[in-house]
Amino acid sequence: CGIIGRVGTDQAIDTLLTGLENLEYRGYDSAGVAVQNGSGIKVQKRSGKVDDLKRTIDSDDLHGEVGIGHTRWSTHGPPTDENAHPHTDSTQDVAVVHNGIIENYAELKADLVAAGHEFTSDTDTEVIPHLIQSYFDEGASAEAAFRQAIDDLDGSYAVAAMVADDHVIYAARQGSPLVVGLDEEGYFLASDVPAFLEYTDSVVYLEDGDVIVVRPDGIEFTDLEGNDIEREAETVNWDPEQAGKGEYDHFMLKEIYEQGTSLSQAIEGRIDHEAGDVALESFPPGTFEGIERVQFVACGTSYHAALYGSIAMNCAGVQTSAHLANEYGVSAPPVDEDTLVIAVTQSGETADTLSAMRQAAADGARLLTVTNVVGSTAARLADDTLLIRAGPEIGVAATKTFSSQAVMLLLLAQRVTGDVVGEQRANLEALLEDVSALPETIESVLEDDDSRDLAETYLDSQSFFFIGRGLGFPVALEGALKFKEITYEHAEGFASGELKHGPLALVTPETPVFAIFTGEEDEKVLNNAEEAQTRGAPVIAVCPEGHRALNVADAHLEIPDVDPDLAGLLANVQLQLVSYHAANALGRPIDKPRNLAKSVTVE
Ligand code: G6P
Repeated sequence: CGIIGRVGTDQAIDTLLTGLENLEYRGYDSAGVAVQNGSGIKVQKRSGKVDDLKRTIDSDDLHGEVGIGHTRWSTHGPPTDENAHPHTDSTQDVAVVHNGIIENYAELKADLVAAGHEFTSDTDTEVIPHLIQSYFDEGASAEAAFRQAIDDLDGSYAVAAMVADDHVIYAARQGSPLVVGLDEEGYFLASDVPAFLEYTDSVVYLEDGDVIVVRPDGIEFTDLEGNDIEREAETVNWDPEQAGKGEYDHFMLKEIYEQGTSLSQAIEGRIDHEAGDVALESFPPGTFEGIERVQFVACGTSYHAALYGSIAMNCAGVQTSAHLANEYGVSAPPVDEDTLVIAVTQSGETADTLSAMRQAAADGARLLTVTNVVGSTAARLADDTLLIRAGPEIGVAATKTFSSQAVMLLLLAQRVTGDVVGEQRANLEALLEDVSALPETIESVLEDDDSRDLAETYLDSQSFFFIGRGLGFPVALEGALKFKEITYEHAEGFASGELKHGPLALVTPETPVFAIFTGEEDEKVLNNAEEAQTRGAPVIAVCPEGHRALNVADAHLEIPDVDPDLAGLLANVQLQLVSYHAANALGRPIDKPRNLAKSVTVE
């Protein structure tokens, strides 16, 4: 879910609606706003997208300088008008937006209902305005009532509340992100920086346990008891242009095309060609001495990047494993202080990943995160952070962050390998040359995009299969994930050698197979592709020009001939384009696929 708030001297509603549009990637099944308009709090909310809210909103009723807004991704209760935020108490004197989960909401609700409170939604959030109201009724000040209500909550939350017409927003953070923006006319409050990036680049990241009181003339940072705390403002260097769609029809396409730039940013200053080594700022040689094993934790696309990093480290002789963060709690291998746990998370806020990190830390592991967001919860939890510097990614389907994650993990793998195994991989210099050239190599793939026809040719198929081996395997998984996320067609990724152990039963002329050739054991991948082709499946070879697979394949997606450690990333760009064109031809809402959210901050 996404939260936005504004306390300023201008009309809050404009900022709130812009903020909600900017935050829609966090959830978009309902949206709403509340403004203090001098004669109480006015709320307008509904199910549907922010656009639907904008179309039906009555702005005359929403004049005022202080307001809050919310875009929702349902956890408790379906996406109905009633369940949309902001939620209020019965008298509409309190309005609240919330992100996260209140674990003890059932008990709190039962107590409030017994005391005569009437609830109108199925959400856990609605207990908060009722709690505040109950303390307010008992004579507490608005601020004290807010603090008492927050103290009653168990679970994870970012909460912003307004009480009557006092020109104040009260907010608290525990486990869900919340950030303050500062400009000359006042303050913004949001779950993520892109919400207000066009207005200011000066931000303060709140930490768990923080409670803030935001007034037009100042902001107080405190702990729950009201003791003052210090929070420093930071400047984010994200370009607001980057957060807009520009000339592209979709953010996803824009972000696919940004990969040359985002990769240049990622690797800038991180390779020392003279020394023939990586030059990762916080990780000089020796950083990982004493580490005996590495475990990766991540979800979704980040898990595929983690698998990429894990395979690269394994091949270099480091004992490594990659884990879905949501499975880590039930199936984590043993961890001790010689274990390095690497959490890969674009947003740095994925609850499953954070939970795995906390567990690993409690067991004594050393924590490192590879993330895109400075000041994110993952960055705060970890002992060390490696930023991927991809800039804001708005499309729900991750694209440019995957390539930056994978490349940063490849660079990190060299440092870990050097420290743990005691020697660098052979031909490291050649790999680093290819990494430096990768932004340009990716540009060349993008310039020659001719995958639209291919995507349309196979559009009527029943299922889409993606196969790869070694570093081609995570790319096969990622190719299939991207395809299913945005086309809603069935797609699966397999280790190519695994096809014959079961999935081959599904193969027919209606199941095109995308085969990824990285230059490593290509002969085996080709055999597997032929096994599918013999059963009638069209084979699309993702490989360089002149590759022997082309004697067999029905169609070709060309990639430049590069180091096998990087070939999969170029294949991935081709597969991103195929998914995009297929989804576009099907008329899907590419940037906001149904039921998905960019950042899932609940477990
Ligand atoms: C959500 C998104 C995925 C993303 C995953 C992990 O499920 O829809 O695209 O890969 O979260 O996100 P993270 O921010 O941890 O990389």
